[in-house]
Amino acid sequence: MNGRKGVRRKGAARRRGGSVAVYPGSFDPVTNGHLDIITRGLAVFDAVIIAILVNPQKHPLFTVEERVALIREAYKGEARVRVDTFSGLLVDYAERVGASVIVRGLRAVSDFEYEFQMALMNRRLDPNIETVFMAPADGYSYVSSRLVKEVFQLGGDVSALVPKLVERRLREKYGKAAR
Ligand code: PNS
Repeated sequence: MNGRKGVRRKGAARRRGGSVAVYPGSFDPVTNGHLDIITRGLAVFDAVIIAILVNPQKHPLFTVEERVALIREAYKGEARVRVDTFSGLLVDYAERVGASVIVRGLRAVSDFEYEFQMALMNRRLDPNIETVFMAPADGYSYVSSRLVKEVFQLGGDVSALVPKLVERRLREKYGKAAR
């Protein structure tokens, strides 16, 4: 017990004394805004697990394997970053991997309602796991995977918004018509 009513602290990471955070999402594809949040997460937590949701109901542009590979490439050599996939409840995944924290980026007030709802639902499902919101650098406050795909497809320049490799893969996906 940590003294807070109703909150029991348990789990592998906490027993080991290291702080492990899960950063979940679709990452279709990863953007510089995501990378900014991961970097901020690494400044606060000992390890960050980037957990890509496997959702058969969605039709992503990049397969789960491609998304894993793109993020792994961005963090090659960074031992404190792990890239993984999950299905089912996020809190169950977090418990399984010994993470006590869920990290989510908050770009704007418009994100807040959905994020707050998820944080409270996750807390209800598992009071041992805390959600931490992080604000990205203001230059990324308008960046989303959805807009990156749309802008790229329509010929706009996304080079400052995604890693180089993602831009290359977008070109391969959309063919020569896009930039
Ligand atoms: O980047 P996204 O698509 O906004 O991420 C959403 C994600 C993956 C964090 C959310 O859909 C999720 O956690 N899904 C797992 C299923 C789950 O636990 N649902 C209840 C959460 S309140």
